[in-house]
Amino acid sequence: MKKATKTIGITLGVCIVAGGALFGAVQLQAHEGAMGVTKERMDAMKSFGEAVGAMSDMIKGKIAYDGARVKQGAETIKTHAGEKLIAFFPEGSMDDHTEALPAIWLDFEKFSNLAAELQINAVALEAASESQDTFMPAFIDLTNTCTACHTKFREEQED
Ligand code: HEC
Repeated sequence: MKKATKTIGITLGVCIVAGGALFGAVQLQAHEGAMGVTKERMDAMKSFGEAVGAMSDMIKGKIAYDGARVKQGAETIKTHAGEKLIAFFPEGSMDDHTEALPAIWLDFEKFSNLAAELQINAVALEAASESQDTFMPAFIDLTNTCTACHTKFREEQED
């Protein structure tokens, strides 16, 4: 039991650090001008970033835990994950503004699996939103999926 708690602590630490780098800065300037499906998916991702940002503020104690807000954020992610997310990435949909990597279409199965996993995690997070204790591990699972996909399929971020 002690060991498990420690592992969660460490994972959470890593998660918060990664979360700061990943979700803290919304890169607006690079993306003005994006259009069509590229814009749609950026908007969806931005809403993911905002939802996750609020949740990590709760973990950091910047704002009080708010189960209703977590639930709402999980719902936003859930409704744009899975098939919906996959549909935002028609083959070759790249423009000057995109951070999507061509690897997406070289390994679309892996990409699709991560999109599906995100939906499963969002459903689990929604169900776990009642208390902060149940929220924590579900949040870690969710953000691990964000990171897994970004690492492989999104251009590396400098900020
Ligand atoms: C299945 C893959 C995948 C998953 C899962 C995923 N993302 Fe993304 N995300 C991408 C890709 C690809 C881009 C780049 C899109 C583009 O620029 O066209 C991106 C871009 C973003 C952006 C930048 C949006 C912008 O303004 O351009 C944010 C913020 C973001 N993701 C947050 C998240 C969060 C938070 C999660 C988890 C809750 C998540 N993403 C899950 C693939 C994914």
